[in-house]
Amino acid sequence: PRLPSPSEIYQPQRANSKGVEFGDRQALAALRGSIAAARGPFMARPAGGATKVRAVTSPVDGAAVGEVAETEEAAIRDMMAAAARAFPSWNRTGVEARAGILKRAADLLEARRGVFLALLQIEAGKTLDDALAELREAADMCRYYAGQARLAGAEIRLPGPTGEDNRLRYEGRGVFVCISPWNFPLAIFLGQVAAALVTGNAVVAKPAEQTPLIAAQAVALLHEAGVPRAALQLAPGAGNIGAALVADPRTAGVVFTGAVEVAQHINRALAARDGALAPLIAETGGVNAMIVDSTALIEQVVDDVLASAFRSAGQRCSALRLLCVQEDIAAVVIERLIGAAKELRIGDPRDLGVHVGPVIDADAKEKLDRHVAEARAAGRLLYCGEAPQGGCFVAPAIIRLARVGDLRQEIFGPVLHVATWRAGRFDALIEEIEAGGYGLTFGLETRIETRMQAVARSAPAGNIYINRNMIGAVVGSQPFGGFGLSGTGPKAGGPDYLRRFLREITVTTNT
Ligand code: NAD
Ligand code: ALA
Repeated sequence: PRLPSPSEIYQPQRANSKGVEFGDRQALAALRGSIAAARGPFMARPAGGATKVRAVTSPVDGAAVGEVAETEEAAIRDMMAAAARAFPSWNRTGVEARAGILKRAADLLEARRGVFLALLQIEAGKTLDDALAELREAADMCRYYAGQARLAGAEIRLPGPTGEDNRLRYEGRGVFVCISPWNFPLAIFLGQVAAALVTGNAVVAKPAEQTPLIAAQAVALLHEAGVPRAALQLAPGAGNIGAALVADPRTAGVVFTGAVEVAQHINRALAARDGALAPLIAETGGVNAMIVDSTALIEQVVDDVLASAFRSAGQRCSALRLLCVQEDIAAVVIERLIGAAKELRIGDPRDLGVHVGPVIDADAKEKLDRHVAEARAAGRLLYCGEAPQGGCFVAPAIIRLARVGDLRQEIFGPVLHVATWRAGRFDALIEEIEAGGYGLTFGLETRIETRMQAVARSAPAGNIYINRNMIGAVVGSQPFGGFGLSGTGPKAGGPDYLRRFLREITVTTNT
């Protein structure tokens, strides 16, 4: 097979998954009907031996969503051995066939949207808007990687002296371990798995312990689309299962999305392991900042800040954590932000009028409540809404900081921190943000063109947003991922992602 052309890599032929206009009553009724028709029982089982079965409960109201049988640590060896045996034939399967399976999976995902949307709402606590956006992103990932897949299996002739034939080819690495978080339990889970599979790797996938049910549905769908069972195995369980998979000598690569501390742990574990050296692709968090200067359009700032900080209950790695407003307009911006935040409705995300659903579980709620209580005690709480009782609800909160450097940890929820800055300190402000070491998303609101250019050139982040909100990167248009403490790259949904899943072989023959 020939190498894909640059245009196939940068703009593979495909169309983004279609949205639903919520103002169209019929379309909305059909969407809600498909969700209402989704029937359990929902169950997640490992491909190998299981230990205890436990209930999976909803962060919305604590109701049982289904059951998960967690992977037995002792079964991991056999699962990895089965995946290693499945690898050679999956790797030899034609690239077109593997890409076809991903395209079929994307079609099935859209056809079965009701089940996936229902689980995104009850297992992960997402609003319908967010759930639909995630389903579309998952389908986009499958089609985008399918469109670039020709890279795997490609063989190209390279120049050399007369009498010598040089060829470079790409192929899968072996068994890839995919470890994913709960906050995009479909799009990130499926994005990792799709990339690893289409490049010819066998996969053992460990979903987050909070969201195994939707992962099980996604794996069943890929099997139905044509992925052999041994080439894709589900390993539900807690962090110990992820750690055991990483430690297995057959692991040829790890793709991880989650907290930076866990990525660092995996990095150390891979380094300490006997056997082959394996690459790690890690996508982690950020203390994402937005700078607003005195020329910014205040109405737009309020809209963009609200969406960036509080949409998805602030549980996006891309979410705005640290708003830096120029002193001259800070009072008016904060007043309007508080006014707008008061309008946000918090509650059951299945209610279409709700803007902010629950956080993922009681532990997350407790941590966030403690953070807000500390700010209140220190006299730094500018605003906190009211959370309903009963579920894992945390009301949007706004906290004043004395200095940018006072926030160095990612606070993963609907909590916005605000600091002010004085004219003439723009460059120093960027340096202070950079000193935190993260580099995921960065926002700027200004009407000064030279400032836009300077930030576009050198802001410390992988994804820079100017005069818009900072969330919802679109596959193929806004390749997503950071650097520093925020990740290793390459970017998901971007032109370079698949290469990292491949090994390269050069064959030189004296003819
Ligand atoms: P987490 O790191 O706690 O868990 C992620 C996954 O790692 C889970 O499946 C977990 O079971 C597993 N795990 C935990 N300990 C492990 C170990 N020692 N070895 C192997 N696996 C282990 O993260 P989370 O709470 O599920 O997700 C939230 C985090 O994810 C936030 O920090 C967020 O910023 C980040 N995130 C980043 C991106 C991105 O693209 N950069 C996207 C989404 C989420
Ligand atoms: N890719 C997700 C976003 O951009 C995390 O919000």
